[in-house]
Formats: sequence, structure tokens, C-alpha cells
Amino acid sequence: MAAHTSDDWWRSAAIYQVYVRSFADGDGDGTGDLAGVRAKLPYLAELGVDALWFTPWYLSPLADGGYDVADYRAIDPAFGTMAEAEKLIVEARGLGIRTIVDIVPNHLSDQHPWFRAALAAGPGSPERELFHFRPGRGEHGELPPNAWPSQFAGETWTRVEDGEWYLHLFTPQQPDLNWAHPAVRREHEDVLRFWFERGVAGVRIDSAALLAKDPELPEFVEGTDRHPYIDRDELHDVYRSWRAVADEYGAVFVGEVWLPDSERFARYLRPDELHTAFNFTFLTCPWDAARLRASIDDTLAEHAPVGAPATWVLCNHDVTRTVTRYGRTDTGFDFAAKRFGTPTDLDLGTRRARAAALLSLALPGSVYLYQGEELGLPEADIPLDRIQDPMHFRSGGVDPGRDGCRVPLPWTAEPWATPWLPQPGDWARYAADRQGGDPSSMLALYRRALLLRRSQPGFGDGGLTWLEAPEGVLAFAREDGLCCVVNLAAEPVPLPAHRALLLASGPLADGLLPQDTAVWLRA
Ligand code: GLC
Repeated sequence: MAAHTSDDWWRSAAIYQVYVRSFADGDGDGTGDLAGVRAKLPYLAELGVDALWFTPWYLSPLADGGYDVADYRAIDPAFGTMAEAEKLIVEARGLGIRTIVDIVPNHLSDQHPWFRAALAAGPGSPERELFHFRPGRGEHGELPPNAWPSQFAGETWTRVEDGEWYLHLFTPQQPDLNWAHPAVRREHEDVLRFWFERGVAGVRIDSAALLAKDPELPEFVEGTDRHPYIDRDELHDVYRSWRAVADEYGAVFVGEVWLPDSERFARYLRPDELHTAFNFTFLTCPWDAARLRASIDDTLAEHAPVGAPATWVLCNHDVTRTVTRYGRTDTGFDFAAKRFGTPTDLDLGTRRARAAALLSLALPGSVYLYQGEELGLPEADIPLDRIQDPMHFRSGGVDPGRDGCRVPLPWTAEPWATPWLPQPGDWARYAADRQGGDPSSMLALYRRALLLRRSQPGFGDGGLTWLEAPEGVLAFAREDGLCCVVNLAAEPVPLPAHRALLLASGPLADGLLPQDTAVWLRA
């Protein structure tokens, strides 16, 4: 059960991701801010979430939506002040909601004082040792030191005026830090303490498996077992010392760890490392009963040996929104397959997203919701001249980028400011004020589901038993007779014997569970 007071709240929590820039706009300038979040705390409490994860809210030139941090100890003035952040943390806690901040250890902003000092100090300086500066190859150093693939398409090295090159796995505005340097480690442990001292209960670790680099910077060779920068063994030492810091404060970590290998993934979740990591296998899984069941089984099996709870995630600020993804022919997620103009059936996607909500909220462990998921927002088409995401530009324009899931939320059917990314013309229908009073809305479903999840036995951390079910149907039992049944097959199916029907994601048909519908039962 999602308890508020116990130390292991994170094992069962429902955590709501706030992309501050697009959540709620307190001052009417079109950009979300902390005043907006504070004003919406009652909404979040009514929704019934246990914690908020804030994407980076620090001082940033916003070359990558805030994942280019210029100062970890300052709030970006577009969002507010440190005093407001401190108030927000306390106010949220007063409503039973904990705060998780986002730390981006792989890189800094090129505007961070460390990088500016490194540029000014020149080749061979101690300031440059904090990053990966190297001379180029070729007769005049005109070629980059290696040909590592970027996480964002395009080049991973940029040449500076004095001829040296620096490494950036993402954009040139995000120089990678040198994690073999003790000052880099010290600084991040200090930053952790800075936020824990302010009452933060957890930290999300951005690109958590990318920090350590092979010091020789060798070429990446497909098929070799050790990658020059993904999932290197020396990283675990970093996380063990982070864990010791977190333990002093009773704080927790969630790692952004995209790794296909279950055993390698689970290493990050050993008892003296990270508490949890995002479940990207589930997030990218197509809407298919056999594939989902396999993904759930694999997830539980990979977590079991290290005793860590699983997390369940349907979308976030980087991927296609759930109702859109499930309304397409390819219902999985793959960055490489994101293209303009993919045909989408939003009614179908919405039905499936409602069922997926009940599925993910009933699975053992904690669950993440991304702002707007509770409103059933689709991915928005952003006019080409308004796109800001560097992923779009670095793909040569073929990838629409991630702005489509980052459009400011429609709180009211009548917008009161011009949002920094345009809302599609028909978004009044998704407005929170319209959905609030409509019992059939996505918002009503999430409120009801989260209320049951926190007030009734059987949810959150624990085990799962599969029940016998027809092909295309997922049925499982949790403790205390709680059952979840999801029908992904074409034919309606009878419900298993039950004492009470707690919640359904859509109408039943003559007592049968129709396609793309889920129910929670008490047996
Ligand atoms: C993570 C973030 C993403 C960001 C990238 C670089 O994947 O979720 O938004 O662009 O790291 O920091």
C-alpha cells in the first residue's frame, strides 16, 4: 500500500513528473513556473500522488530543455527563486507529497563557470581536466579524436578556438564531465547534500549509465563486450558513494538507465547502489498481451535477485505520449522510428491508455505518471518554425523531436496566456476544468484509481500471480484478493469470480470485458 510515513514509501509510490516549463504558468508569461506549481498543489493532492519529480529547474540557457545546467544551486529566474523552491518543498510535504529533483551528472551547460574557466585556461590546464579535452587527429588536428556515436545523432566532438576538441555525448552546449576526476565526484556529492538539506526526498539521475568513459577514448566497436562509455564498471563506485550520502538523509534514487541487458541493469540496483531505476522495457513495449506479459515477467525476474522494487512507466518528457503511441500501427516506442505524419487513431489509443493506466497502477512496485497523462493528452504536432528540441535539428529534420509531449498543460478551456509551445486548436476538450466534473474523463479515472491504490490493500510493492486467462488476456492476482484483468483480444471475455468490481477503464458489455478494457476486482 502506498503509505505516507514509512521509510520505504518509494517501494510503492505513485510519482508525478513535473516538466516545470510546461506545467502551470503562475505569472502569465507563457512559461510554467514554481508559482504555478504551488498553485496546483491542491490539484496534485486531490489527484493522489505521493511524490513529484521535477525535471531540471536550475539556472540554464535551455539548450536542451534544462538538461544543460549552468548552476545547480540556483533556480532559473524564468521559474522563480530558491526561496520559492524551498517553500514549495515544504508546502508539498504538508500535503503528503515528497519532492524528487533531477541531477544531470554526465554533463554541464557550456555556460557553467567550470566550462567557461576551462575554455579560458587553455590546453593542458587543470581546468580542462574536469572535461574531456583532446587534440584532434589528422595532420593539423582537424579531425575529431574519435568517431563515437552521439545519443542525439550528429557529432560528439566540438573544436574550440585554440584547436583542442571537447567531448559531448549530447549537444555541443552540454560538455561531458570527466568522472575520473575527484573534484567532479566531490562537487556532485555536495550538490546532493545541498538538495537533501532542503528537504528533497529523492533524486532522479539523468543518463545514469553514461558517466564513465574509457580514458583511452577508443573507437566504439560493435559487438565488443565493453563499451567505451555505456555502463562501465567503474560507475558503480560512484553510485556506492552517492548511496552513502543519500542514506544519511533517508533519501532515494531513481536512475535513468537504458540497458537491454537485465543482469547489467540490475547491478545498478544492488542494495548499496540506486534504490530504483526506470523501466524502459515496459515503456517501449507494444500493446500486445504476450509481449506485455513477457516484459512484466522479465522486469520482476531482473529485480528479484537484488531486492529492488520495479517501476512502471508509460511515458515521459522524451517519448511519444501514450494515447498517441497506442493509437498507431506500431504501438512500441523507438526514437529511430519517430516520424512526422504517422497515422493515429486517438479514440483507440485513449481506450488502450485507460486500460494501460489500470494495468500499470496494479503492478508490483512504484509507478510514474508524466504530467498530462492524467488528462489523456495526445502528442501535439508542433509547427516546424516553433520546434525547439535539439533532437529535431540534429536528426537533420526527420525526427519531430520531443516538443510534442512538452506542450503546456491545458488547465482551462479558455487559455489565459500564450504558451511557449502552441497548444493544438482542439485542446479545450482536454482542459482539466472540463474533465474535473466529468465522471467518464481520463482525469476522473486517474483520481479514482490513485485513491483506490492508496487506500485499499494489495497495491504497490509485493508479489504477483498470473491467473488462467484466454489468449490475449492478462489476468493477475495481488495480495488480499486484488485482481487486475486486461483484455487485449478482439472478443469480450467473462470476468473471473469476484466479490466486488473496484474500477473499470471503460464500459462492460453485458457483464463481459470488451477489447482494450481493464478492470480491478476483489475476489
Ligand atoms: C535524458 C533526459 C533528456 C535529455 C538527456 C540529456 O535522457 O531525459 O531529456 O535530453 O538526458 O541530458
